[in-house]
Amino acid sequence: MPITVQGAIARSKGAPVELTDIVIPDPGPGEVVVDIETCGVCHTDFHYKEGGINDDFPFLLGHEAAGRVSVIGAGVTHVAVGDFVVLNWRAVCGDCRACKRAEPWYCFNTFNASQKMTLVDGTELSPALGIGAFAEKTLVHERQCTKVNPDADPAAVGLLGCGIMAGIGAAMNTGNVSPGDSVAVIGCGGVGDAAVVGSQLAGAGTIIAIDRDPKKLAKATEFGATHTIDSSGLDEAGVVAAVQALTGGFGADVVIDAVGRPETWRQAFYARDLAGTVVLVGVPTPEMMLEIPLADVFGRGGSLKSSWYGDCLPERDFPLLTDLFLQGRLPLADFVSERIGISDIEAAFGKMASGDVLRSVVVL
Ligand SMILES: NC(=O)c1ccc[n+]([C@@H]2O[C@H](COP(=O)([O-])OP(=O)(O)OC[C@H]3O[C@@H](n4cnc5c(N)ncnc54)[C@H](O)[C@@H]3O)[C@@H](O)[C@H]2O)c1
Ligand SMILES: [Zn+2]
Ligand SMILES: [Zn+2]
Repeated sequence: MPITVQGAIARSKGAPVELTDIVIPDPGPGEVVVDIETCGVCHTDFHYKEGGINDDFPFLLGHEAAGRVSVIGAGVTHVAVGDFVVLNWRAVCGDCRACKRAEPWYCFNTFNASQKMTLVDGTELSPALGIGAFAEKTLVHERQCTKVNPDADPAAVGLLGCGIMAGIGAAMNTGNVSPGDSVAVIGCGGVGDAAVVGSQLAGAGTIIAIDRDPKKLAKATEFGATHTIDSSGLDEAGVVAAVQALTGGFGADVVIDAVGRPETWRQAFYARDLAGTVVLVGVPTPEMMLEIPLADVFGRGGSLKSSWYGDCLPERDFPLLTDLFLQGRLPLADFVSERIGISDIEAAFGKMASGDVLRSVVVL
């Protein structure tokens, strides 16, 4: 029997988050229903709500979630009822051109549930990132469920499902930060601070946190930034000069843009050392345009990369990072600024914008 539960949706572009009944179909072959325990509020949910990702409204928001598998469809073997899982939006297919060339973190054919969750009137919902977890239950593909140690606090490890994994991976996987490297991270929200943590795990020497909000810089220092730059009063040249001053006059080996705007990407581009790496992990919106002299792209060399989900492999990385967390070597709990109810999501977007939180986590 389909189940009706409460979910948080974005009905149309810019409309406030709305709580409404949603219908979860019986899981079909390869699908499972997960009882959501916690789901973090990510900036990407805000992008969805504002129409910055696409126009497939209504969206069922939420995608940084942990919970328990409650119903499984035919042929499901990857998880069993009762398993504690973190949901992922990269269930790799093993068969596409990326998977075949042994780069599954680029998988172009990731699995999602084939059936749609709907509103009570039958309107199909678009689940954010194929998950949709601001709801008591959600329907996903079995391989979107990654089992992790159930001793871990769901509010903390659920964050591995998106932003924190993206940030850690932007440093460790995409940026390939190596021992002794200098790293600069622009934008110290949840994603940027996770990039600071990932840089530290990878053995970076100098880790420079850059933000316009002093509160965020103080927090980034707690996460391991060795230096900070308040960019609120600085133009591009000012930010670049400040990074160079902290890196022997050269610029950082790796600069991670965890904001995703043309001006922050340009700062990243010019604040890196010659032949260094720029990692774009912040998500730009469709109207944003970048203009840069092509001669500078050539002349400065190095590599300009995007980091989709931190180039992670959930089945490899979520259990590993959960274990590091349980051993006290990864401060995941420090990303949880507050625990809120499902009716507080709109307010949480406001706190995100004002810089008051790293992650608000909805407890279902
Ligand atoms: N690539 C991925 O797979 C992936 C995954 C999750 C989130 N994201 C994206 O990462 C970005 C950051 O997400 P978040 O949840 O950390 O957001 P957030 O809102 O918590 O943090 C953004 C931070 O950037 C700072 N900031 C904004 N404009 C700035 C500027 N011009 N210069 C310096 N700092 C500035 C803010 O003060 C804030 O600290 C978003 O664009 C989000 O969509 C990407
Ligand atoms: Zn694939
Ligand atoms: Zn996210």
